[in-house]
Amino acid sequence: MSKPDPMDPNVMKPVLGIETSCDETGVALLRWEPATPGRGLLAHTLYSQIKLHAEYGGVVPELASRDHVRKLVPLIRQALTDAGLTVQDLGGVAYTAGPGLVGALLVGASAGRALAWALGVPAIGVHHMEGHLLAPLLEDDPPEPPFVALLVSGGHSMLVEVKAIGQYTILGDTLDDAAGEAFDKTAKMMGLPYPGGPMLAKLAESGRAGAFRFSRPMTDRPGLDFSFSGLKTQVLLAWQQSDKSDQTRADIARAFEEAIVDTLIIKCRRALEASGAKRLVIAGGVGANRRLRSELAAAGTKDGFKVYFPRLDFCTDNGAMIALAGAIRLTSGQYQDASVQVYPRWDLQTLPAA
Ligand code: KG4
Ligand code: ZN
Repeated sequence: MSKPDPMDPNVMKPVLGIETSCDETGVALLRWEPATPGRGLLAHTLYSQIKLHAEYGGVVPELASRDHVRKLVPLIRQALTDAGLTVQDLGGVAYTAGPGLVGALLVGASAGRALAWALGVPAIGVHHMEGHLLAPLLEDDPPEPPFVALLVSGGHSMLVEVKAIGQYTILGDTLDDAAGEAFDKTAKMMGLPYPGGPMLAKLAESGRAGAFRFSRPMTDRPGLDFSFSGLKTQVLLAWQQSDKSDQTRADIARAFEEAIVDTLIIKCRRALEASGAKRLVIAGGVGANRRLRSELAAAGTKDGFKVYFPRLDFCTDNGAMIALAGAIRLTSGQYQDASVQVYPRWDLQTLPAA
């Protein structure tokens, strides 16, 4: 790692961001401009593989890799056209290097690394969760570290103390099912098609308050870890013993969503208290949940902390967050050598400061 050379013309040129860690192919172009609203995002495109995996009820890794191969280059071309750029205009390439599905990661990493090599520009492998937690920086009024980040996606429920970009301490983690995974599995149990999370949340809107109540797991003892698999079992029992009507499904969905949202808010309050931070960042797919967004905003107003969310499109997987995290690191002089390396499991706390 070396410090950036201010004379290097690549420093201010657009960075291509590539996300292929799971079932979305995301591509974006961003010219890092810290003081500009939007941080210099020039274009972003996304292809979701939902239809491909729906008939299997979950992501099939080999199919995911093959579809990334098919979609990645056309999406890069489209993003360049949308931004009015050609590959020759690129100053660097950022790709998700982990955590995620190894085959899927390798598609983005190989394509990104090869393109950077061909163009003679630096490339950087980005941590997917760092991408998520920096995504609110793409909005107007971005959060300044120090802050606490709640990362809630299909694979993670984490509370992270962010002292500076690249300085992360995990305060609490998933012991079993992540919040998004609990949404998806609960939806599946009640007969909703894949991916059930957003559909369950939609259904919860027509559920009646108080018809069911589930516990708020691990909130009766100190600590910041999460466990949602017991909640899933409670829901299964309630569903099996019910009349299985549409209204009951919606009532259970509402009670389940309330239990998850309450649990997440209790732990966020504890994490803010423990760290002394006054800013809370929410990111990851479950960050798109409307109840979570409105109840956290209300908790912030009551307790005196400020909540930052990415726009809905940047809560779920996308290329913009990878272009952003990559551009920040490339601008600070970090880049990878020419080998293609991915990390299906990767501890966020091992990242260098940016
Ligand atoms: O961050 P993401 O796109 O992918 C991962 O990195 O995992 O998150 C996907 C997860 C899925 O589990 C999905 O069900 C959940 O986010 N999700 C939601 C909502 N939208 C997406 N969960 C609850 N309410 C939503 N509105
Ligand atoms: Zn994600």
